[in-house]
Amino acid sequence: MSIINNSKTDPNKILPMTYLWARQHYKDGVANNWVPEEIPMQDDIEQWKNQTALTEEERRLIYWNLGFFSTAESLTANNIVLAVYNHVTNPECRQYMLRQAYEEAIHTDTFIYCCDSLGLDPEEIYTMYQKIPSIKEKDDFVVELTKSVFDPNFNTIGDSNIQAFVHDLVGYYVIMEGIFFYAGFAMMLALKRQRKMIGIGEQFEYIMRDESIHLNFGCDLITTIVAEFPQVWTPAFKEEIVTLIKKSVELEKTYARAHRRPPPGTHRPDQGLRHRKPLPVDEPGH
Ligand SMILES: [Fe+2]
Ligand SMILES: [Fe+2]
Repeated sequence: MSIINNSKTDPNKILPMTYLWARQHYKDGVANNWVPEEIPMQDDIEQWKNQTALTEEERRLIYWNLGFFSTAESLTANNIVLAVYNHVTNPECRQYMLRQAYEEAIHTDTFIYCCDSLGLDPEEIYTMYQKIPSIKEKDDFVVELTKSVFDPNFNTIGDSNIQAFVHDLVGYYVIMEGIFFYAGFAMMLALKRQRKMIGIGEQFEYIMRDESIHLNFGCDLITTIVAEFPQVWTPAFKEEIVTLIKKSVELEKTYARAHRRPPPGTHRPDQGLRHRKPLPVDEPGH
């Protein structure tokens, strides 16, 4: 019995289950069910419109985090549905991934709700991943390190392909949903503690609660594959994974620091209301 490459697995026969942790993550996700409309945004709207309630730095922080997360949510949903789901045929894991994909849809909906409530220019928010270098570097890094599994000819047969799969799962789950989400969570939750943009802060808390389960599922999936195929966990492969994680931590630190010291010419966060003409969001010098 194995979680991948098991010719005896019938993806349509979920009982009896082999991996009870996958079932538990599913139940934990259901217990956390929420939708963004449950959270009132009136106080946020008033603060956002009030020219003195937030500093320029705080507005930029909100802007960039909405910009990063709005597109990162679609990227992670695509990863699950178009790539990982194909290769993990175990039915209880697939059941969890369907739940996760639904939660990513809720998260995407959250940013639609935030843009609509605050009257943000969607063109500006949804192109930040291309225009703000510290966001682009993170997204490019994940896209590059998860490209094996998107290859239509990719399969998980053989040790080198299993290694490639584990490598890409680390990219999806540990780096994207783990490391790359958490500076943003910390920033938004810190604002909420100061009673600033508490509606968005609450939405980020709910997202973080979901993402913590996504990360736990990913870690269980990775450790199970490695336990079942221990020959792939070579010293050289471990070293490669550690190097990727260190690099991603550096990118996350760059992203966090860029909020405080944006390069000249960067988007000015006081330009966020839809009735105003958006400024270019290029950061020269990158
Ligand atoms: Fe998400
Ligand atoms: Fe997620």
